[in-house]
Amino acid sequence: GIPNFVKIVEVGPRDGLQNEKNIVPTDVKVELIHRLVSSGLPVVEATSFVSPKWVPQLADARDVMEAVHGLEGSRLPVLTPNLKGFEAAVAAGAKEVAVFASASESFSKSNINCSIKESLARYRAVTHAAKELSIPVRGYVSCVIGCPEEGSISPSKVAYVAKELHDMGCFEISLGDTIGVGTPGTVVAMLEAVMAVVPVEKLAIHFHDTYGQSLPNILVSLQMGISVVDSSVAGLGGCPYAKGASGNVATEDVVFMLHGLGVRTNVDLVKLLSAGDFICKQLGRPSGSKTAVALSRV
Ligand code: HMG
Ligand code: MG
Repeated sequence: GIPNFVKIVEVGPRDGLQNEKNIVPTDVKVELIHRLVSSGLPVVEATSFVSPKWVPQLADARDVMEAVHGLEGSRLPVLTPNLKGFEAAVAAGAKEVAVFASASESFSKSNINCSIKESLARYRAVTHAAKELSIPVRGYVSCVIGCPEEGSISPSKVAYVAKELHDMGCFEISLGDTIGVGTPGTVVAMLEAVMAVVPVEKLAIHFHDTYGQSLPNILVSLQMGISVVDSSVAGLGGCPYAKGASGNVATEDVVFMLHGLGVRTNVDLVKLLSAGDFICKQLGRPSGSKTAVALSRV
């Protein structure tokens, strides 16, 4: 059976905004995070302490974090690609971080400018420093189904990177279909390989909706025992280093499906819709959530 409660990890302020060309003002990001927190989401990924040359949109990470780190109700992790980012995140008040590796060698190079092996060494340094400060570290694996350059990625590569992240102490491993090419068939095969080496309680799934496969992919993942789902309000997002990748599955659509299944999330859909409406108006574009579009008509 599927779990009674699903923890939704909202990645809109980070994954959702990182690909926006026009710089979103810091106070808009802060207001978005406030609204997401007040909707009851247990985790809201707030920003990334990455190189501003690589992701100009998130160059204000310190200001965003300083404005929100005292917010009660949600955990507010941030992405850190190396020790430099980790130290800056902690100095700005971050109490939780995430590192991000890839199952594809080419994507590792284009996203973080190093090999998979080098990235794992960097992340060992981050998890070591985090342990000293009792800071939980989440680990991402990108390109778990396919890579924009290499095509199909074998489940054994995903399992290898997921196990390395788990062994170095990551409390949760999020499996990212960065370009959204997975279908329930390929997702089940990938999860079987990962679940053979990392306990299912430690796994999360992270789907981009490029081909409209996210909801069926989430449903089969729940049936396999996964109970942590990443999503982005209004379906915002995409990775600047994964050409053609579209936004994450919309949080509103995930909540609508889960509540329909009788699965609890702690999220107030009405408040979530208002957060989505706020950011879409700020960005000047319609929502990527079908649930938000449908409910705005009634
Ligand atoms: P690099 O150019 O190889 O870094 O970038 P470097 O160590 O050679 O340093 C070059 C310069 O960057 C130096 O500054 C460093 O100080 C600076 P300079 O001396 O030239 O003035 N620098 C930094 N500045 C701020 N914060 C830092 C930092 N580190 C170095 N942390 C690096 C390597 C990893 C930094 C770079 O490639 C980078 O920032 N990449 C991040 C790309 C990114 O954020 N991608 C999107 C997130 S991943 C994703 O979206 C996938 C996910 O959603 C899951 C999924 O969908 O699958 C998670
Ligand atoms: Mg992503």
